[in-house]
Amino acid sequence: LPRSAHATAPAPGTTGPTAPPVSPCPSVCHPCVPGQPCAHSTHCSGWAGSSAGRVTALFPPAEFWTRLHNLLKPSPAFYHFILTHFKWFWDIINSTFIRDTLMRLVLTVRANLIPSPPTFNSDYGYISWEAYANVSYYTRVLPPVPDDCPTPMGTKGKLQLPDPQLLAERFLLRQKFEADPRGTNMMFAFFAQHFTHQFFKTSGKMGRGFTKALGHGVDLGHLYGDNLQRQHQLRLFRDGKLKFQVPPSTTETHPSPVSQGCLKPMFLWQLLSDPSPDALDEQLFQTARLILIGETIKIVVEDYVQHLSGYYLSLKFDPELLFGSQFQYRNRIAVEFNQLYHWHGLMPDSFIIQGQEYSYKQFLYNTSMLMDYGVEALVESFSKQVAGRIGGGQTINANVLHVAVGVIRESRQLRLQPFNEYRKRFGMKPYKSFQELTGEEEKAAELEELYGDIDALEFYPGLLLEKPQPNGIFGESMVEIGAPFSLKGLFGNPICSPEYWKPSTFGGATGFEIVKTASLEKLVCLNVKKCPYVAFHVPDAAEHGSPRAAGPSTEL
Ligand code: HEM
Ligand SMILES: *[C@@H]1O[C@H](CO)[C@@H](O)[C@H](O)[C@H]1NC(C)=O
Ligand SMILES: *[C@@H]1O[C@H](CO)[C@@H](O)[C@H](O)[C@H]1NC(C)=O
Ligand SMILES: *[C@@H]1O[C@H](CO)[C@@H](O)[C@H](O)[C@H]1NC(C)=O
Repeated sequence: LPRSAHATAPAPGTTGPTAPPVSPCPSVCHPCVPGQPCAHSTHCSGWAGSSAGRVTALFPPAEFWTRLHNLLKPSPAFYHFILTHFKWFWDIINSTFIRDTLMRLVLTVRANLIPSPPTFNSDYGYISWEAYANVSYYTRVLPPVPDDCPTPMGTKGKLQLPDPQLLAERFLLRQKFEADPRGTNMMFAFFAQHFTHQFFKTSGKMGRGFTKALGHGVDLGHLYGDNLQRQHQLRLFRDGKLKFQVPPSTTETHPSPVSQGCLKPMFLWQLLSDPSPDALDEQLFQTARLILIGETIKIVVEDYVQHLSGYYLSLKFDPELLFGSQFQYRNRIAVEFNQLYHWHGLMPDSFIIQGQEYSYKQFLYNTSMLMDYGVEALVESFSKQVAGRIGGGQTINANVLHVAVGVIRESRQLRLQPFNEYRKRFGMKPYKSFQELTGEEEKAAELEELYGDIDALEFYPGLLLEKPQPNGIFGESMVEIGAPFSLKGLFGNPICSPEYWKPSTFGGATGFEIVKTASLEKLVCLNVKKCPYVAFHVPDAAEHGSPRAAGPSTEL
């Protein structure tokens, strides 16, 4: 969580409090040369630009203050500890204005770490119009390692990186299923997959580094299609609805969370002035889409991220928190966000539906399951089956290990910078050794042997092999790097802007209220006959992700 409003890495385009006087930057800084004199970090391509520390090395007095500052600055681990302990304290905070103040602080501090407008992409390691305007690219927070650098990771490490298949088998392949200590369930896992695939849609045709999801955020393109032609194929063109099929055990006696029938009266005024059913259908469709986007963000912030964080601070989806702050209502999905979200460790060894065990082969792409069991039974089964831990190493089931191999291959093709450079970029100290990273000796020694240098460790292996937080699902870096992308994407949605965030956007007070009161439970229970157990954690895990008594927590 926030170090403090002024203690984080300087936002792009600004100067941190301890930055030295700005001296003119050479037009091209060669990023393979550490300490290149580029005083205004963000003017330079390459990771000289990412590290205020390296830049200040040229200015000893400033470095003194930076050091002092860093010494006194509480670490992410400290904030995490406070936020995940002292429930009695947070129970008080939750019901005061301090909750709003902290939520605002969390949002601004996190979001400030994401450049907005976006900067680089995998073909442009310097600011360019193409990188800004061509939204088929995923953006990049750190530019690619230049092609003419001495080693694949820049200047550090060996001339050849370890074989990705070998890395995956030795360090990522699950030996024995370890349940997430916080009780994350399969409902969370499938929600995560479904939710993120609206904005992670890597293009097969254009290749790695490109996306088919041009909305770059929560646009529900996974429901409505990622282009207008597809949207039209999916629409019924009546009452604003999509084509549908009523699955078993859903009922029409309950209103759906966004019952378009209930929206219809809101547009009666339009019927009076414009009797065209097509225009009515169109406006119903468009307004329902905005409501569903709002509901999704509400559920993701207050149910999904709340669970994932394990915080006792009650998170709040209230766009008005940001109305007094400088904030850009825009978002561009980054390659780094896509890479880090490969949470295949969540996947179990088999799937348990109403006591019946199914193998991957039986379960994947088995569409008849929905019809055989119905929504209630599936939701309840997913909610009761515990998911696997993501971080800590050796957490990925053999059936999906190839995906992790693909992630490592992609990061090499796109020349992602080393894990430690990302640590610095997101306000953390670089690891000094593999032992410090993993918190143990054996795997650390093997990694050292393969990579040669901790500063040459790759992004994705770093995230997955870092020691998890105490009773956590993954390590500190996943949180510190992932949360800024996530919050920027959720609150940077146009519906959160002052122009949009008002009743009329959502068809009136009723629609606005639906957005403001959405929850995972309502999403499910207003759509089925009998409300099943539904949550993002298994039943015996304490509410809001407090740590459960669980097995060993930090070994690889
Ligand atoms: C049913 C279990 C799952 C299977 C069989 C599976 C399989 C796959 C496959 C085959 C890919 C494409 C890899 C490539 O293009 O190289 C992929 C991509 C991905 N998966 Fe999964 N996955 C599963 C669950 C999950 C879960 C639970 C998450 C959690 C968030 C997740 C996150 C992702 C992401 C972010 C991508 C990248 C998507 C893109 O860029 O287009 N997956 N997965
Ligand atoms: C505060 O929020 C946390 C997390 O949502 C929850 O566990 C706790 O019960 C809440 N307390 C109050 C008074 O709302
Ligand atoms: C974006 O860049 C790619 C790669 O250069 C190119 O193929 C594509 O046409 C560009 N898209 C647009 C809309 O210009
Ligand atoms: C799909 O799931 C059903 C249970 O809903 C099961 O009977 C069937 O064997 C599964 N299909 C395959 C190909 O395994």
